Amino acid sequence: MVMDSAKARRKIESTQDLPTLPTVIGKILDMANSPMTNAADIGRVIEQDQALTAKVLKLVNSAYYGFPGQIRSVQHAIVILGFNKVKTIALAASVFDLSKGRDSNLLDLPAFWEHSLGTALAAKVVATKLGTALQPEDAFVGGLIHDLGKLILALCLPKEYGDVFEWLLANPSTIRKAEREVLGFDHAQVGDWIAEKWRLPMELRNASRLHHSPTQARDDREMVFCVHMGDILARGFGIGSPGDAMMEEVNLQSWQHFNLDVPFLDDVSGLLITEMKKAGDFFDLIAQSR
Ligand SMILES: [Fe+2]
Ligand SMILES: [Fe+2]
Repeated sequence: MVMDSAKARRKIESTQDLPTLPTVIGKILDMANSPMTNAADIGRVIEQDQALTAKVLKLVNSAYYGFPGQIRSVQHAIVILGFNKVKTIALAASVFDLSKGRDSNLLDLPAFWEHSLGTALAAKVVATKLGTALQPEDAFVGGLIHDLGKLILALCLPKEYGDVFEWLLANPSTIRKAEREVLGFDHAQVGDWIAEKWRLPMELRNASRLHHSPTQARDDREMVFCVHMGDILARGFGIGSPGDAMMEEVNLQSWQHFNLDVPFLDDVSGLLITEMKKAGDFFDLIAQSR
């Protein structure tokens, strides 16, 4: 039965099952947006959280960043890698814990997070190749959070979301179409609600809301397109599982807007394979956050 979306939003936001973003991450994102903040302040905030600090140090010293075993503190990491990368790492280290200790009979949670991470890695390489003003690290974060709406639906409205999966069995289609058909809204919209509640930056809200309809983007067009492509590439490369079987096509209008060709896709695919080989420690984090 189609739900009233405002009511559904209230229900989701008031349930005890709603995952919460760690306060430290909210603080870091706020500080990142403030011109009054310096890198040392942010390093200190991360270092107040011991568990987060340990994870950040593990990642900054992983093969992915190319300084194995040399970075001893978060402050040091910020000096070497820059604040933007360290912010991304802190967010990645926390986001997989959103479903810690939880289970779902609708989504295979580790496979869902692998899909999110695969999308993040792919969105980052697309951003790198596009060569626009969009920071590849920001595209990574967009990829990481793009399908959060699915997680929220599976954890907060399991019965209603179960109906979506049942509908899909009888009507092979994209999950987004099934969500709209059965619920009257989709996971992209739910991701936007939650990103707004968590006061995430607008570009991340747009990454979530528009990753299946990139031509609707008025702002943050590059971000939305990189996440859209990243999602499709992660599926194409079989990285994790987004929870449904039907693969979407690349949005042709966006493809043309950015003037892309087949060699672009070859380059991006090559880069993604290299990134995947180095990203083992990121995938380990998913295994550890069950
Ligand atoms: Fe999606
Ligand atoms: Fe996805």
